[in-house]
Amino acid sequence: MTPSAAAATTLAEPGPPPARGFPFEAYLARSRAVDLTGIAWDDVPHHRVTPETVRTLQYMQDIESHTIVYLRSLLATRAIDDPEVAAFLACWIYEETFHGLALARFLEAAGTPVGARPRPRGSEPLAKRLEAWATALVSRAWPDFCAVHMTWGAINELTTLTGYRRLSVRAGHPVLTELLDRITLDESRHFYFYYRQAERRLARPGAARIARLLVDRFWAPVGSGVQPREELTFLAGYLFSDADGRVAARKVDDTIRRLPGFSKTRLLEAWMDRFVEPPGGAKGKRHGNRDH
Ligand SMILES: [Fe+2]
Ligand SMILES: [Fe+2]
Repeated sequence: MTPSAAAATTLAEPGPPPARGFPFEAYLARSRAVDLTGIAWDDVPHHRVTPETVRTLQYMQDIESHTIVYLRSLLATRAIDDPEVAAFLACWIYEETFHGLALARFLEAAGTPVGARPRPRGSEPLAKRLEAWATALVSRAWPDFCAVHMTWGAINELTTLTGYRRLSVRAGHPVLTELLDRITLDESRHFYFYYRQAERRLARPGAARIARLLVDRFWAPVGSGVQPREELTFLAGYLFSDADGRVAARKVDDTIRRLPGFSKTRLLEAWMDRFVEPPGGAKGKRHGNRDH
């Protein structure tokens, strides 16, 4: 096994990261569009694709394709002053864009092609534009801004890759499983980059204190404010509300709790408790207001 293949194998498993640092040079050298060679697109309609799977994939496809809008916000922050973070972000946006295209291809093969968005990406809701503006301001005023950015990224990549793994199990579709396996390999690399960066930057107690405060106060699952709230609560209920899903959500929080200053944080589980009832409940409906 080559060193880069060994690194990729190690990086594929979520949970506590290995003791060594992130293999940054290997990551840059390997960055590319998700490999779709051999994906049996023609077999997609030969297996049942449930309405729940389609709805979940539509959400995920939209969020993957929305990454370029997050990048627009990040370019106004200190993130691009760090050469390593800037190089990572260039690869990251490239890989995420191809995730969106790959999921769109699956949906099309399943007979449910992605249509036009109700709201063009360039005209975000006012709340999101204000959020981007506030982020840029915080970044300028706070030298340790990257600590919260990297922590945020680690949480979001981990919830995304955990979500894809749950979807793979719930959908039970062999072609989708193969596709998601390839996508989650990228997501796990993204996760480890962010996590290693966060770990290092949060070693400063002052940075950790403010980062924890901001994450506890403002974090919500990926896609909040971009997709309607009822879509998010549906997806969360579908992927995380049964016994295995709750275990997966707890594992996400357990991993984030290993970051300096985050030992008592509750994120995905707390969000689930607040907005999503176990199967058969009605909490998601009760909180089902639209964010935009
Ligand atoms: Fe992705
Ligand atoms: Fe990612």
